[in-house]
Amino acid sequence: MNETGLCELAVVGLGVMGGNLARNFASRGLRVAGYQRTVEHAHALAAAHPEARLRIADSLEALVKMLERPRRLVLMVNAGPAVDSVLDQLDPLLEDGDIVVDGGNSLYTDTDRRVARAESRPWRFVGMGVSGGSEGALLGPSIMPGGDRYAWERLRPPLEAIAARSPSGVCVTYCGRGSAGHFVKMVHNGIEYGDMQLIAEVTALMREGMGWPWGQVADTFAEWNRGELESYLIEITADILRAPDPQNPGALLVDAILDRAGQKGTGKWTVVAAAEHGVPIPTIAAAVDARLLSAAKELRTRAEAALRPARGVIQGVSPDDLRDALYASKIASYTQGFALLQAASEARDYGANLAEIARIWTGGCIIRAVFLERIRAAFAQAPRPSGPDGPELLVLAPDFAADVARRLPGWRRVVAAAAAAGHPVPGLSASLAWFDTLTQARGSASLIQAQRDYFGSHTYERVDAPGVFVHTEWPKSSQ
Ligand code: 6PG
Repeated sequence: MNETGLCELAVVGLGVMGGNLARNFASRGLRVAGYQRTVEHAHALAAAHPEARLRIADSLEALVKMLERPRRLVLMVNAGPAVDSVLDQLDPLLEDGDIVVDGGNSLYTDTDRRVARAESRPWRFVGMGVSGGSEGALLGPSIMPGGDRYAWERLRPPLEAIAARSPSGVCVTYCGRGSAGHFVKMVHNGIEYGDMQLIAEVTALMREGMGWPWGQVADTFAEWNRGELESYLIEITADILRAPDPQNPGALLVDAILDRAGQKGTGKWTVVAAAEHGVPIPTIAAAVDARLLSAAKELRTRAEAALRPARGVIQGVSPDDLRDALYASKIASYTQGFALLQAASEARDYGANLAEIARIWTGGCIIRAVFLERIRAAFAQAPRPSGPDGPELLVLAPDFAADVARRLPGWRRVVAAAAAAGHPVPGLSASLAWFDTLTQARGSASLIQAQRDYFGSHTYERVDAPGVFVHTEWPKSSQ
């Protein structure tokens, strides 16, 4: 409380993420008010953490009265209708210049709608991605706000106070106009899906394909985490693979976990958004598909019994080949994700700065990695003659191009050996197929065009007259 008795900021929704975010704000010296529909939960949280000195309101009306003006309210409620419901309730209570931030994993098109709604209202709206899980929310997340710029300037000091810090700086930046913050968070999650899938595939190859004991798999990830692959997800993989099964002495927990992956939707949204923006993201799409197939456990069990495919030992692949395949696929996946951000920024007028987005992902978030500092540097290069700064595609930046070239032989050996021995590597192989398609100046689509023209008179362009669309009466063998 200050001399006027008012709080500087409110958090609405004090679940795991909201509660920890409120405590994080408080730990930076901010006076924080909190509200949660289940009021007893809010009071219990405040009582459990007296050091945060959270002031709990029993209604949104009371909460609004606790705040200095212009008010700043951060919503940490479930994405979807709950956000609209809170906005409906806050709308008559808010005044000129007040700021409402949606910090959930909202679908960006919902954020577009809310941004449009706020334009006719006296209050301002910010859609903001937050990554780092519950621990990140408490100790320093990566924060991706977008939308109203005036509101961002007012939010900047408290957000900079709570965000993660990495050697590249404080992990919050203005991501762009409109729904940019939530779009950026969605792509972050899509990339997260890709990384997780690639790591899972390499783990399965080591274990099932090459017969390594779990200890060797864990040690290899721990070793990789000291090199170019250093990242949160590699680090936690080594930890996970060493965790004992509390219900089965001597066994490892990983062996007791059912192979059915959940998903809340952000990966699927990324794939849909990519298709809508005309950007191929096959690594991320493969990761979403793999989760869907994983969920069909009973079907997979029946299919294995019915079809009994031969599954053998992986031959001719070294540990370095596996690392190279993982790293090269990661470059492919991040190239796709950043290409989507670039295309969406142009189509949707976000004005996003890709170097800044890479920078705020260097710390705090689930995909944090030393690799992202290299991506930041690539996008921070001198302006191109036309279009945005940096390389046209990440993989075309000179050091990433050289990296992929060096890893290509190992990448091919891994994908080929996995296919030959019957081990599924959808993420690694989709990434390689993307690379091979990208780097083939004359591809196989001539035939697609011919077929389209044959059955539907859709026309095609000749190689000697691009831009001129012609139709052919194709000779038909059946007439
Ligand atoms: C983060 C995570 C976070 C959450 C995902 C999990 O950045 O902190 O991505 O947003 O863990 O929602 O998503 P799935 O349930 O879809 O795997």
